[in-house]
Amino acid sequence: MPITVFLNGQWIAAEQAKISVFDRGFLFADGIYEVVPVYQQRPFLLVEHLARLQRSLSALQINAPDNSFWQAVISELLERNGLADALVYIQVTRGAEANRSHLAGADLQPTLFASISPLPVHWHQPKPVAVTLFDDIRWLRCDIKSTSLLANIMLKQQAHQAGYSEPLLQRDGWITEGASCNFFGVRNGIIYTAPKDHLILPGISRDHVIQLAQQLGLEVREQAFAVTDLAELDELFLTSSSREVQPVGRIDDMIIADGQCGPLTAQLVTAYHASKRTLCEIS
Ligand code: PDD
Repeated sequence: MPITVFLNGQWIAAEQAKISVFDRGFLFADGIYEVVPVYQQRPFLLVEHLARLQRSLSALQINAPDNSFWQAVISELLERNGLADALVYIQVTRGAEANRSHLAGADLQPTLFASISPLPVHWHQPKPVAVTLFDDIRWLRCDIKSTSLLANIMLKQQAHQAGYSEPLLQRDGWITEGASCNFFGVRNGIIYTAPKDHLILPGISRDHVIQLAQQLGLEVREQAFAVTDLAELDELFLTSSSREVQPVGRIDDMIIADGQCGPLTAQLVTAYHASKRTLCEIS
């Protein structure tokens, strides 16, 4: 089915949507984005996603509409496209100006874009994937959800070409995250994940999984995990809005949890599915 998108106040067929070649998103990747999962027509953790959208915008000093505007756009996007399970994509750039200059003019109108794609939602226990350890070559503001993703793309491409599902990134001997997901490790019954600082994207599913773990009475430590301790991991999983809770069975040649989905990971997968049902009122 052809997709209808939102662009600068207009609703148009995806292939009709055009932006200026002078858009700073095109010239400089001067913009931010957000990805919101939708289950049975209901956005999941929308308040949290919109709060992060506003944080990214204010970090870049881009003035864009508030949350009620985006809520209305998302509702209409869902209505017009009629997809039940979907990923909503929002992108805001600083706007377009004919003189290419690193320093933007003061009176730019931001470019506002929203689109949607079908999400093959699952309700089962996913199969473990393999990851490969790479140096985190990204910039030092990974907390901003910027469309400037060249390092992430290169790392993902290299990992895929070597037959891995995702690169697992390390900086100065500490695990940060994946190229497009957050990292969780389990050792001796305790769940570890990198702290929310400038070296990781503060994942919405990451925060949600921490809450779910705590509700299950599991201990979570938001502290950096050393590369030298990876061999001690009993379980490893990744989180993101599209992957949800993704078990990992291998880091390069190192087998984790016998290559299976570990018991705490399985518990969190189940809890995540249950929360999708509850929060999106799915019977
Ligand atoms: N990626 N870390 C990075 C670098 C990411 O790009 C993402 C999300 C996450 C997980 O964030 P969340 O739980 O809010 O989805 C962590 C999205 C899905 C993307 O780039 O499409």
